[in-house]
Amino acid sequence: MNHPSNAALPSQIPTGSDPSPGMTKRSLRRLILWILLCAVLGGVVAVAYALIYPERMPDVIGEWVEDLTGANAHPVVLMRPPVAPLSAVAMVGQQMFNDPSLSASGKQSCASCHSAAHAFGPPNNLAVQLGGPHMADAGYRPVPSLDYLYRQAPFSIGPDQGDMDAAPVTLDTLASAAQGVQRAQKNAGVAPVAPAMVPQGGFFWDGRANTLQDQALGPMTNPVEMANPNIASVAAKLMQSKYIGTLKQLFGPRVVLDPNLLVSEAMFAIGRYQFEDQAFHSFSSKYDAWLEGHARLTQAELHGLRLFNDKDKANCAGCHLSQPSPDGLPPVFTDTQYEALGVPRNPALAQNKDPKFYDMGVCGPFRSDVANLTQYCGMFLTPTLRNVSTRGVFFHNGVYHNLKQVMDFYNLRNTNPEKIYPHDASGKVLKYDDLPAKYQANIDVADAPFDRKFGDKPVMSDRDIDDIIAFMKTLDDGYKPSGS
Ligand code: HEC
Ligand code: HEC
Repeated sequence: MNHPSNAALPSQIPTGSDPSPGMTKRSLRRLILWILLCAVLGGVVAVAYALIYPERMPDVIGEWVEDLTGANAHPVVLMRPPVAPLSAVAMVGQQMFNDPSLSASGKQSCASCHSAAHAFGPPNNLAVQLGGPHMADAGYRPVPSLDYLYRQAPFSIGPDQGDMDAAPVTLDTLASAAQGVQRAQKNAGVAPVAPAMVPQGGFFWDGRANTLQDQALGPMTNPVEMANPNIASVAAKLMQSKYIGTLKQLFGPRVVLDPNLLVSEAMFAIGRYQFEDQAFHSFSSKYDAWLEGHARLTQAELHGLRLFNDKDKANCAGCHLSQPSPDGLPPVFTDTQYEALGVPRNPALAQNKDPKFYDMGVCGPFRSDVANLTQYCGMFLTPTLRNVSTRGVFFHNGVYHNLKQVMDFYNLRNTNPEKIYPHDASGKVLKYDDLPAKYQANIDVADAPFDRKFGDKPVMSDRDIDDIIAFMKTLDDGYKPSGS
């Protein structure tokens, strides 16, 4: 009875595996195909993932993706200044900033020279603006942008700003302490080996004002700007203004009894406006979006950024800092220090008609408190490069009018000075012609790109220059990611 089944067994075994050699091969092939397909799909998904989230990849892959797509492999969270509505003081400050009736001519306000549509820099490409009682007097220096000054510290020499509050020391003392100290070289991305014993902080090209409040009085009474003869005349104009009632409310009724107090509070309000209004520090550039992983740089921009940060090549970031601080403060593209670059003289400036006149920055003549510190002659504040492409005038004497000219200066100053400076009748190149010979040793020849020698190959090619300019344009605020 059991037989049939028993008998069937042996024959069933081969039957079960019958589809046999052919089928096995086919299913094996199918299996291999599946595995391959999965591998390819997995690969595609992994690559897509890496492309979308390069920051989640190991460094090597992240950088490879950065090269390929321009996405930031190491995004950060930026700590922007808090956005809040303007205080009442800042609002009245804004009114004053835009009020031409505070000038002697009745035609010029702060905003005439510091145009909101031009990053609070000049509205035109003139080296200097006209001002004065009849709007006919030329200024001495180009108008700087007022953007990104909110973190500017008071003027000092050397690194010990903290100590200055505790025990006030004179700038002379600081300077003599700095005297024997070897100047630390500035290399992009490398912390200096020694603290920088150089002038830093302060407002204006030469750092002669310490706070926005101090600063605002400058243009009010500068004879070639708003040209009020004295504080009393600024006060008289404020008394006539439509916001004098608001000033009384904010600063108390006594404020109208004392012209010095009135003007001092008014300048405080103008300072508050610049400090509080986000328009002065919005950190809304494409580069900020890239830092946060929300934008991709083009190949040109990315190459420009790499050169900008390359300590042996362009080394721009050696002075125009490009990295967020460890706690996420966005970079303002200046180390807020002073340097002598030896920019060529601008023959178009009225004061330069006098061959004996030299604007030497920190050591004068527009400031006189540190005139004896001749080691700082020729030094000017490193300006921010944020929104720099919106400017039509560059450097402390406005000698250049486009970024290509600026780049040629950095590239060729040492290797081909004949292309940068004029020559005398005998054909001799007048290198560093905007600084008296005895101070020319102050000029930076240590930091790249200025470390090249006469006749060397210039550090940047034409393409490098184009790409660095493309990168600088990513520093313009108001970037809108495409599709939004
Ligand atoms: C006639 C044009 C003109 C007017 C009007 C003017 N400024 Fe300026 N401003 C300049 C120039 C030029 C400089 C640079 C001067 C220097 O470095 O010596 C400057 C510098 C500044 C700075 C320093 C910026 C920096 O990078 O250190 C601030 C802040 C400033 N102005 C605010 C104001 C305010 C506030 C007003 C109105 C009360 C005003 N300016 C009116 C031309 C003007
Ligand atoms: C050693 C420090 C240092 C290095 C390196 C440096 N800069 Fe500057 N930069 C300055 C100083 C200081 C000024 C102002 C000089 C003056 O007006 O006399 C300046 C001015 C500028 C200006 C004019 C801005 C304005 O508002 O007028 C531009 C643009 C600029 N630099 C771009 C660059 C680029 C691009 C590089 C790299 C190729 C670079 N800088 C490298 C210190 C430096």
